[in-house]
Formats: sequence, C-alpha cells, structure tokens
Amino acid sequence: MSVAEADFTYISDLVGEKSAIRLRPEKNYLVEARLLPLVKDLGMASIGDLVVSLRLKKDRTLEAKVVEAMTTNETSWFRDNHPFEALKKGIIPELLQRNVVRHSIRIWSAASSTGQELLSIAMLLDTSFDLTGWKVDLFGTDLSSEVVAKARTGHYSGLEVNRGLPVTLLVRYFERAGRDYVANEALRSMVRFDQMNLIGPWTVRGPVDVVFLRNVLIYFDIDVKRRILEQLHSVIAPGGYLVLGASETTLGIVDCYEPVTLAGSLVHRKKER
Ligand SMILES: C[S@@+](CC[C@H](N)C(=O)[O-])C[C@H]1O[C@@H](n2cnc3c(N)ncnc32)[C@H](O)[C@@H]1O
Repeated sequence: MSVAEADFTYISDLVGEKSAIRLRPEKNYLVEARLLPLVKDLGMASIGDLVVSLRLKKDRTLEAKVVEAMTTNETSWFRDNHPFEALKKGIIPELLQRNVVRHSIRIWSAASSTGQELLSIAMLLDTSFDLTGWKVDLFGTDLSSEVVAKARTGHYSGLEVNRGLPVTLLVRYFERAGRDYVANEALRSMVRFDQMNLIGPWTVRGPVDVVFLRNVLIYFDIDVKRRILEQLHSVIAPGGYLVLGASETTLGIVDCYEPVTLAGSLVHRKKER
C-alpha cells in the first residue's frame, strides 16, 4: 500500500509550508510510515481520511501534529565527535579570552531534537573547563513540541543512552529511572529548551557565540538555507562560530562565513561585513 498521489501532494505541501522540509515523491513510504500511527491514534481508517479532515477543518493543532510526525529526530550523544573536539580544543579556549570582559558564553543548539546535542555540550563544558563566575547560557530550540518536551524531561531509554554517552558521564550526570535514565538536576539546570521554527519568527536574540545547526539544513531548499544562514549571521557574535552537520556546508549558498579547521573539524567563523 502507498499514499495516493493527491494525498501525498497535500501532505508534502503542508509540511513544506509549515516547516520548509521538502518531501520528494520517493518519500511516499516515509509519509505512510510516519502518519499511520497518527491515523490510528486519531481513530481514523486511513491517510486518505486524515487528508479529508485536514482539508475540511484547517485545524492548526492537527496540522502541527502532521508536520511534527514528518520530522526526522535522529540524534545521539557527541554525534560525529569532531565538532565537540573543536569546541573543547579551539572554540571555548578562544572565547574564554575574547569574552573576558563580559564573562559570558552563549551556545545555541538550533535543531536540538531530544536534547542529546546540547546536553553533550553542557557535560563537555562542565568536565573540561572551570567556568566559575562565568554566565553560561546553553539553549536548544526545535520545531517539534514533542521533542522539546522530551528534552526538558532529560529522560532517556537504555538504547538512547547507549548511543555515544561515555559510561563515566552516565554515572556522573544520570540517575536510574526503572530501566531508563534521567539527567540529574545539576545537568538539567545547565540547559533550557524551547520550541522555535527556523522559518517562523525567531525568539532568539544575539549575540550568540556558537550555533550548532546540525543535520537540519539537509531537509531544506537552497533559498531557505540561505535565509536561515543569513539570519544566523545577524545573531552570531563578532568572531563567533557556526557548526554544521558532516554533510552540510555554507559553500555556494552564502559567503558571510569563513571555513576554518579547529582540532581536525571544519567549522564556520562569522565574517564581518
Ligand atoms: C536530524 S535532527 C538533528 C538533531 C541534532 N542537531 C543532531 O545533529 O543530532 C533534525 C531536527 O530538526 C528539526 N527541524 C526540522 N525542521 C525544522 C524547522 N523548520 N525549524 C526548527 N527545527 C526543525 C526536527 O524537528 C529535528 O528534531
């Protein structure tokens, strides 16, 4: 079974309009796999029924559920490792010197999913630097209210914890909750998570020293990538950094960042205009 062409078009237009995520026709199977559980939850018989309901009611809550169901929230602890090495060996030591007067560091995980990326940054800062007296603002945002809610709980299954979290950090920062784990109060108090659509009005104000924008630009068309990268340029502090996913780049899209290699990892430093 696959999703009828007209239904697929309706869903992909809706998802594109609300999130900029581009669903190509070969993703028909994905629409089916992601929406069938929602269809079942809603007590409907098919994706066709869901589309009829969307067309008739224009119900914002239902639309948001569909869009959220179509997001890919894949993430893990210290994902790809290199960016975290760049942070530890290059970026943070540099910020400790540059920001010595304002005594603050702000880091934004701009598509934070269920929180592993931002919590990895928090643990890295806490274990590798003495930031006594510094104001450290670590915050994450994501389009999906569901993943934001989960990130706020700091609650992870054994399977999730097994994806890249070193045992020393597990012992130091997590407590058991039955078969699962929960980030302890100390770790949770270092971070905050909010819902924000990268193509909607931004609630984040600059200056931000480092933005992790990883594994999300891949879902967008070039015009959307350009708009987001330009907007980020205006919130990143002078000399601040943008960290993208392994397969993402600013090349050929915008020229307001300078690629630099720090600790073997390619990151992007804001250029002044
Ligand atoms: C693959 S995850 C990446 C998580 C993390 N940055 C990492 O690299 O492990 C992509 C995230 O982008 C979010 N996302 C997709 N479109 C978005 C948009 N328009 N605004 C904000 N977040 C969006 C999804 O909800 C999803 O949680």
